[in-house]
Amino acid sequence: MNIELRLVKNQQELEDMFYQRWLVLRSTLGMELGSERDTHEDSAIHVIATLDRKIIGSGRLRELSPELGSIAYLAVLPEFQNRGVGTKLIEKLIYQAREKNLKTVRVMSRTNAVKFYQNLGFSPEDKSSEYLGISHLFMQLKI
Ligand SMILES: CC(C)(COP(=O)(O)OP(=O)(O)OC[C@H]1O[C@@H](n2cnc3c(N)ncnc32)[C@H](O)[C@@H]1OP(=O)(O)O)[C@@H](O)C(=O)NCCC(=O)NCCS
Repeated sequence: MNIELRLVKNQQELEDMFYQRWLVLRSTLGMELGSERDTHEDSAIHVIATLDRKIIGSGRLRELSPELGSIAYLAVLPEFQNRGVGTKLIEKLIYQAREKNLKTVRVMSRTNAVKFYQNLGFSPEDKSSEYLGISHLFMQLKI
């Protein structure tokens, strides 16, 4: 598979990415188009994985403070899961975080993804929470 990992290039690609994010993370919960976005999109960094120009995976990094970054909305289309795409997205997001001189990145992981993040070196924090009716755990990684 010739998968390319890169930043979103333009507004059209950003819209395509939101749709891919919605498909994986929101349509599955019966939520409307638009529910996949929040107020931090413009100031964040968006990484996508493409295959033949189709967006198959995506994830977002934003700065919470000069040292702390937040990785969120990690999403790989179901038919491309378990082939290393999510891992590549995290590696690229961590690279971007290092470029920004961040020291730690944090994720709020759905319970089903905790093992995925653990394999990448993330450690669970004490805090767990309920979000969109799904149990989540805060996890972090020193980078
Ligand atoms: C969670 C998610 C982002 C992970 O992405 P992914 O592309 O499936 O992840 P990877 O393929 O990199 O890793 C998943 C597993 O495949 C294994 N794997 C990695 N590369 C592989 C390869 N080339 N061949 C076979 N297996 C591989 C990994 O070891 C990992 O094993 P694990 O189950 O023991 O952790 C993705 O499954 C997803 O979008 N899920 C639905 C939405 C979601 O829950 N998002 C997280 C929100 S917090």
